[in-house]
Amino acid sequence: MSAATIDLATARAAGVPAEIAVFSYYRNAEQHGANLLFRLLKHLDDPDAQIALSQHLADETRHAWLWTERIVRAGAKPLVVCDGYQVRMGRQAGMPRDVLDLLALTVVVEQRALRRYQHHLRRPNLDPDTEDVLKNVTKDEAWHIDWIRKLGRATAEERGEAKRFDDAIARYRAVDREVVEHLEAAEQELSGGATVD
Ligand SMILES: [Fe+2]
Ligand SMILES: [Fe+2]
Repeated sequence: MSAATIDLATARAAGVPAEIAVFSYYRNAEQHGANLLFRLLKHLDDPDAQIALSQHLADETRHAWLWTERIVRAGAKPLVVCDGYQVRMGRQAGMPRDVLDLLALTVVVEQRALRRYQHHLRRPNLDPDTEDVLKNVTKDEAWHIDWIRKLGRATAEERGEAKRFDDAIARYRAVDREVVEHLEAAEQELSGGATVD
């Protein structure tokens, strides 16, 4: 691990402010979300799906940039996160096998992002700058979830694999809950036991 890479467990020892670690994890999750979409681009031939995917991909990279700018405005630099949400998801759930798995994973990841940002928005003493960024990224997530879920269902039905798609979502959701539990516990420790969610 280089000096620039970090996980939540070591961030505290390194004296990293909790908010910089949290923003860096958000940034990391957005970048990995963009990577999932980039992989989907290669699997979907439908021109309308290509248009929506391009818009979606542009949104996720913009979200990562908004978090990057927020970190810089805080006078810090982004941490290179080595154990973020999606790395943990991949480790526990395994690599997606095909386009249905990729779509199911994207649905779960998007739902998690939305829920997490909505929880963060409800924190007391939220600073206006972070509130602006959270509102900005949150407003895109509803259509992301909606269209990816519809595309996943349609693709699964076309292939006669509706049940496999639903099962994949359930499987990724179970892993997501475990991963988030772990990350939130580490985050609480980092912020000195304060309630973070
Ligand atoms: Fe996003
Ligand atoms: Fe999204």
